[in-house]
Amino acid sequence: ERGRWALIGEAPGAEEDQQGEAFVGMAGQLLDQMLASMGWHRSTDLFIANVVKCRPPGNRNPSAAECAACASYLHAQLKLLNPRAVLILGRIAAQQLLGLQASIAALRGKPQQLTIGDGHAAMVVPALVSYHPAYLLRNPEEKAKAWEDLNQFAQLLNAASPVA
Ligand code: URA
Repeated sequence: ERGRWALIGEAPGAEEDQQGEAFVGMAGQLLDQMLASMGWHRSTDLFIANVVKCRPPGNRNPSAAECAACASYLHAQLKLLNPRAVLILGRIAAQQLLGLQASIAALRGKPQQLTIGDGHAAMVVPALVSYHPAYLLRNPEEKAKAWEDLNQFAQLLNAASPVA
């Protein structure tokens, strides 16, 4: 069915913590606009989650230990969803999920593979990395690249789910 893809961010901010939903603050509003430009809406087309499930104090970057503590929760969510493809937003989420140390510039623009779970039950899902919308709010000149990423992701999604 149409909606089976996942978008993974970093961690809830203040508004997200209050409302219990991912990407509802300023970055989330930009994200919704970006999704709308592709004809996507969060309530029908995709599942949104964060790598870290609680807001890090003072909005600092989550630590590796905090990411690790939440990993089984996120992997359980992704296992249930069984997404056709995953779009990972921002360096922290990408490095954590893919187990790579590269910069966002090096991670984006090329096909990645996300392993969900481990052992015989592991699933490998095609993934792409793009800029975090909070970064795009601070660096609007990078929006063109994020737009390229979304279009590349749409192609990946089509390839992963041929229209019947
Ligand atoms: N930034 C994120 O990475 N996730 C959210 O839910 C909100 C802001």
